[in-house]
Amino acid sequence: MHHILNTKQLSKIDVERILKNAEKMEKECKTGKVQKVLKDKVVACVFFEPSTRTRLSFETAALKLGASVISVENATSNSSAYKGESIEDTTRMLCSYADLIVMRHSKTGTAEAAAKVSSKPIINAGDGNNQHPSQALLDLYTIKKEHGRLNNLSFAFVGDLLNSRPLHSLIPLLNLYSKNTFYFVSPKELELPKEYIDYFKKKNISFKKIKNLEEVLSKVDVLYMTRVQKERFVNMKDYEKVKDTFLLKMKHLEKLKKEAIIMHALPRVNEIEQEIDQDSRAAYFRQAENGLYVRMALFQYLFEV
Ligand code: CP
Repeated sequence: MHHILNTKQLSKIDVERILKNAEKMEKECKTGKVQKVLKDKVVACVFFEPSTRTRLSFETAALKLGASVISVENATSNSSAYKGESIEDTTRMLCSYADLIVMRHSKTGTAEAAAKVSSKPIINAGDGNNQHPSQALLDLYTIKKEHGRLNNLSFAFVGDLLNSRPLHSLIPLLNLYSKNTFYFVSPKELELPKEYIDYFKKKNISFKKIKNLEEVLSKVDVLYMTRVQKERFVNMKDYEKVKDTFLLKMKHLEKLKKEAIIMHALPRVNEIEQEIDQDSRAAYFRQAENGLYVRMALFQYLFEV
């Protein structure tokens, strides 16, 4: 039995198998030919933090494959966690009802703690500012689909790199591929954590820290904007200080390569002007749609069907 807790656990073979199957799922969805291969399975989606895309696309993925879904949203107040039940006891109970558990929590390490006592596969749907593996896999799928390759690309990650769990999960996946270049664009307060910088240095991967968005626009194939994660700030004054540091504007698009893509895990708040949505390089809604196909593929990977 596998869990999906952290993308560091995935080999290139695992990743390529998931991406290949996601492509198959996309074709089957678009031709109305999805096989109900999970018809005896129950998937539990337990979210202690808000979500639109992740929870609903996991649930849709399960339903399309014929599984049944049990779901708790606002689990902090709408499950017995509210009465003080531990994550371990909650997980033990979920294992009695479901065949797979998708879990999101505000605290780093919660999915890992759940996995320690779980007899069923756990998918980490986001734990604090740590990891969001299914988001990173759908990001990878999007890059491959849009650019036709995962190597020899230039990336800029912009905004809250300290708290972006999609980015923290995407880095190990992108580093399975060669000759990629990285620009990290953030204010000092929101820089990529040291462990990731050390990882780049150790692997001798080319990267540059930058303060000015305009400096990288003409250089990148993938411009990945991130939301400043208000919910991770203890002091709201600190949030107010950095919240609007980077806003991608229409005028910036003039400098962006014709074949570049703009990504964002969404939800967006004030990172990308809405008029940009009409530009063919705006890939973020296509990216969110890809989440469905990748999550269908993830279920099949974990259930080995
Ligand atoms: N990208 C993402 O995780 O979105 P949700 O918070 O809506 O699930």
